[in-house]
Amino acid sequence: MRECIGILTGGGDCPGLNAVIRAVVKSATKRGWDTIGFLGGYEGLLEPMRHRPLDYREMDALLFVGGTILGTSNKGRFAAKTGHGQVQQIPEEILKEAKANFHKLGLRALVTVGGDGSLTIAQRLFEHGVPLVGVPKTIDNDLEATAITFGFDSAVACATDALDRLRTTAQSHERVIVLEVMGRYAGWIAAHAGIAGGGDVILIPEIPFRYESVCARIAQREREGKRFTLIVVAEGARERGKDFVTSGPEEKQREARLGGIGAVVADEVQKRTGKETRVCVLGHLQRGGAPTTFDRLLCTRFGARAVQLIAEEKYGYMVALRPPDTVAVKLTEAIGRLRTVPLEGDIVQTARALGISFGD
Ligand code: F6P
Repeated sequence: MRECIGILTGGGDCPGLNAVIRAVVKSATKRGWDTIGFLGGYEGLLEPMRHRPLDYREMDALLFVGGTILGTSNKGRFAAKTGHGQVQQIPEEILKEAKANFHKLGLRALVTVGGDGSLTIAQRLFEHGVPLVGVPKTIDNDLEATAITFGFDSAVACATDALDRLRTTAQSHERVIVLEVMGRYAGWIAAHAGIAGGGDVILIPEIPFRYESVCARIAQREREGKRFTLIVVAEGARERGKDFVTSGPEEKQREARLGGIGAVVADEVQKRTGKETRVCVLGHLQRGGAPTTFDRLLCTRFGARAVQLIAEEKYGYMVALRPPDTVAVKLTEAIGRLRTVPLEGDIVQTARALGISFGD
């Protein structure tokens, strides 16, 4: 009988998930293994089980198709994360059922592709006896133990493109334009896109801001004859002494939905400066579409490496990027900690050197 492995994608989707699936299926096929994909994230492991075979001939073109052919979920019976670093216990019977189903299928191992929440679930399943390896995914880039998660570069490319477009209209109308980007409690997308897209002010969760400082930068630009300003705001940014802005009521067993800070900032800036100000919320555009070349390559390397780890029976590990190589790190090194933008790091220092304001 041929060996078979399983794969699932968990948490919010992002560009590159299909490229990982493709790399896993192709590498497994090369070793003479079959692959099945669980549908709808971890839920596919529970009754009624949802899975299907993945044939390598189906993998054509998946390199550049957004989303995930397996579906995914960031809610449901496994939900392990409910807030800013808050982890809740997954019910014992859920873990037992998933393990029993996994073994019923006679699988050699499982590849789980996800961010902090999904990899936290992976660790629990591993502790319960499911042989698995993880692949780090999230546009937020907030995962420890890897230099970068896949999906991040594609999200930054999207936000940078948005800034290029907003620049010309802001300049034409001599306006302030605020771009709100995703990233949850980390400012990676805002910081990288803000620099790459020539933003003038970047507001990130790591540096609570003051309106006096934001408006001072706008006034300084006016004095320099620059009558427009681009402000990039991470959804998790907040005014000094204030709480995060959320976009909906709290839902049980789900992380808080951040969003709305862009409009709050735009209102206040217009009030204080008298300058016409507009807001653009990039939202899920950052999560859709084709991965960048960088992400395609990273996903392919991660997928191939994950299969290699299974061949080596190196379970409870996650593939990671430690430039120039991909390496294996324990799942426990990656989860439960948020990787935020270091204030003394190169990114913040580069921005400051260019005169970009963080509103502090
Ligand atoms: O974690 C990825 C992410 O896109 C965050 O940047 C964002 O806060 C959240 O997911 C949005 O989740 P949902 O798609 O459930 O609204």
